[in-house]
Amino acid sequence: MAASLAMPIVPVAALRAQPVVVQQVGSKPAADTLRNPPVLRNISSRPHTVEVNIVAAPARISVLPGRLTDVYAYNGSIPGPTLEAREGDRVIIHFRNELPEATTVHWHGVHLPANMDGSPFDPVPPGGHYDYIFNIPRGTAGTYWYHPHPDGRSEYQAAMGLFGAFIVRAANDPIATLPEKLLVLSDNRFRPDGSIEFADSNSTQSNIDMENGREGNVLFVNGQVMPSIVIRKGEVQRWRVVNASAARVYRLAIPGQVLLHVGSDDGLFEHAVEKNDIVVANSERVELLVRGTGKPGSDVELMDLPYDRYMPQTRPADWNTSRALLDLHYSDRVMPAPVTLPTTFRVVPALDTATATVTRTVVLSQGMINGHTMDMSRVDMQASVGATEIWDVENVVGMDHPFHLHGFQFQVIDRNGVPEPFRSWKDVVNIPKHEAVRFIVRYADFPGKWMFHCHILAHEDHGMMAVLQVR
Ligand code: C2O
Ligand code: CU
Ligand code: CU
Repeated sequence: MAASLAMPIVPVAALRAQPVVVQQVGSKPAADTLRNPPVLRNISSRPHTVEVNIVAAPARISVLPGRLTDVYAYNGSIPGPTLEAREGDRVIIHFRNELPEATTVHWHGVHLPANMDGSPFDPVPPGGHYDYIFNIPRGTAGTYWYHPHPDGRSEYQAAMGLFGAFIVRAANDPIATLPEKLLVLSDNRFRPDGSIEFADSNSTQSNIDMENGREGNVLFVNGQVMPSIVIRKGEVQRWRVVNASAARVYRLAIPGQVLLHVGSDDGLFEHAVEKNDIVVANSERVELLVRGTGKPGSDVELMDLPYDRYMPQTRPADWNTSRALLDLHYSDRVMPAPVTLPTTFRVVPALDTATATVTRTVVLSQGMINGHTMDMSRVDMQASVGATEIWDVENVVGMDHPFHLHGFQFQVIDRNGVPEPFRSWKDVVNIPKHEAVRFIVRYADFPGKWMFHCHILAHEDHGMMAVLQVR
């Protein structure tokens, strides 16, 4: 199939040329135009308890300026409202499904009982409800997110607007005083009338979407196109970034600025790492520190730089284009006092490879795991509660597959034989084309059936998923 038939990416500059899209560009913003998603209201008065209501329902909202779009939304907003909790909290989510189809809510990355995971094993029918109840383990503060995970329909429901952030805070967060921004990244594509565009089945585009995963030509941060953030001279901001895209991998950079990468999927690193750019595969999260180092009054853009994750046959013609996500305005206000950062953020205890009892080999080929597509009635792997294991995940094909394990956080040991330079907790790791990644994981508790899969949602939906049973 010809890559030239792929959906053209509209450069963000073109969108910005329409004054209706972003009014603030060109002026000198005094305050952020980036809006945070609403925070879910805690209806509990009990200590250490977060109790919230979430409804998934069709809605008609303004996604693109001046147009109305039929969507699915959590509590009427895209992204859905942010779930905020603290380590040790008991979280109670009263979920109602008012969609015309079955769904689940999956708490991506969180260590919780299997029947609370919102996996395809526990669908909530249309009109049904489900109470998700779990405790947040100590030591797991981080940036998580939630999204639908029904059998075969995750990509469609996410494209329709179902995704939201889930922030777990630590009692002793060493950078809690820094101004914090949440950036939920998503992309989508639309018909001229503003409706969400899905490829006709059997079209060339649907084959491309199946291969690459569905990418959109409009890039959103918290549901906004090119919002802005203002930073003062000398200020240090903490940005929590969630890649909620179904397939797009972002390579983030801010021209003229070295980023301080301080955290990954499941929380802070021990130390900051300087990076010119940071690759964020779909479903990954990063925490980074952004500094007010630019010339007062000037603007730079948070860029998504080209990243070639594709097979040559279906690589989009304009894959090599950089795209702007957000405007960063260096204000002429100055921080009253210099910001000092801790040298150590937290201790990340090592999982000891000497304690691993098994090494599992997981082979990713196009659409399959270990030569099979998903079968809900099959158990692909068995393990014991309390066991520590090494997974050797090998990608034998010429495109990247971001690999995700439910329920249990892991530590990458090496990538293509190169030892990981430092420890971090992760729940998804991108496996580049023809590369292999080894990680170590401990099934601390929670017996049950756990999914592992490629997080390109089209691949997941079409069976690039398997089941680990822990007993
Ligand atoms: Cu974020 Cu199985 O998913
Ligand atoms: Cu998950
Ligand atoms: Cu994949």
